[in-house]
Amino acid sequence: MAFQPQLKILINRDEITRAVDRLACEINSDYRDRHPLVIGVLRGCFVFLADLIRRLDLPLDIDFIRLCSYGAARESSGKVVVVQGLKTPIRGRDVLVVEDIVDTGITISFLLDYLKKRRPASLRLCALTDKPSRRRVPVPIDYLGFTVPDEFIVGYGLDCDQRFRNLPDIYILEQ
Ligand code: IMP
Ligand code: MG
Repeated sequence: MAFQPQLKILINRDEITRAVDRLACEINSDYRDRHPLVIGVLRGCFVFLADLIRRLDLPLDIDFIRLCSYGAARESSGKVVVVQGLKTPIRGRDVLVVEDIVDTGITISFLLDYLKKRRPASLRLCALTDKPSRRRVPVPIDYLGFTVPDEFIVGYGLDCDQRFRNLPDIYILEQ
């Protein structure tokens, strides 16, 4: 029989909308009179980032970075590599990183160190979700949408083997 993934709703689209509104409100107020560079971490960020930036009432630039953390499909190995770099110089910029989920923290702490070395004027992190139960490296999250349980989640940009990114709500993937 074909493999049938079981999806259990965790966060519905209305809750996501309210969280994105709240985050945009905080960012609008903190970055008033500034011109941040928003850096999206591909690919998981793209749905969240598209919704978030349309609520930001600020002049801003956008760039993307793609990182690869080698290891099993659902685990960070600890070795992170930049597979698609930035096109925008970040020295002296107010940089806001947008990420889908902070799990072990290995990927994002690598990225924050990588960006810090390039001397931005400021560096903050906005994450849609946080799975603190699995943290191995401490990560300061400045703007957080949701704390999620120790489950594998999909939808609203989050994938499992590239599937489910298009779902408008966030689900727990049960197998
Ligand atoms: P970390 O390095 O362990 O924090 O993992 C970071 C990356 O793993 C995230 O940016 C996601 O792309 C992926 N990831 C971790 N947990 C999940 C999940 O529950 N669903 C989908 N992707 C996840
Ligand atoms: Mg990601």
